[in-house]
Amino acid sequence: MTNDKIIVALDVATTEKALGLVEELRGEISFFKIGLQLYTAEGPEVVRAVLSTGARVWLDLKLHDIPNTVARAVESASTLGVQMLTIHLSGGSEMIRAATGACSAEMLLLGVTVLTSSSEQTLREVGITDTVENQVLRLARLGIEAGIHGVVASPREIKTLRREFGGKIKIAVQGIRPSWAEPGDQKRFMTPREAIEAGADYIGIGRPITAHLRPAEALAKILEELS
Ligand code: C5P
Repeated sequence: MTNDKIIVALDVATTEKALGLVEELRGEISFFKIGLQLYTAEGPEVVRAVLSTGARVWLDLKLHDIPNTVARAVESASTLGVQMLTIHLSGGSEMIRAATGACSAEMLLLGVTVLTSSSEQTLREVGITDTVENQVLRLARLGIEAGIHGVVASPREIKTLRREFGGKIKIAVQGIRPSWAEPGDQKRFMTPREAIEAGADYIGIGRPITAHLRPAEALAKILEELS
């Protein structure tokens, strides 16, 4: 079902606002993303609060630290009961293995390859001389060899990742804009339909829904576009 593929990013400052959105959208979708902004402000309590509504949670913390610390954080997220968690694949195979080894059977561990805000220039600054695409593929391969369940990708990378790795990984994309929405700061976006057709398993959408005057109406329009 397409509704299961849509994940709304709860990029708000308070638990109250997050739960307001969950309540408004919960009839249509069941998966929500909690990222650094909300988690730093409200901590694990907001995760428990969203989970207690019966919704699923993608905890987008993009962990990157020494292997032992990442493994302990993955354990903590498993204990919280979230369904999806992110780590940075640039932490290397030992860190990724520590993370996958600590992941519960109920949780999917997704790896971030190259942040969509990074350009070739950004890679040069940190000493990487390869292209963004090659770096994405290199890190995805490293992740898969170390037991990662999926990757977070930009919509533009879906086809290349599917061609390289087939159905071996789940692909979650962000940077999605429905045809009727303002692109805002997004430059390389795709519509939800394009992303699904390209092979995305999960689509994370934020502001086109959360900044809309009537979020439920925005979500309904997106689901209609997909059906
Ligand atoms: O832009 P929008 O509000 O839809 O973003 C939703 C989520 O996707 C945000 O949490 C943002 O961090 C993430 N994002 C991303 N890569 C992009 C655009 C957004 O990871 N290119």
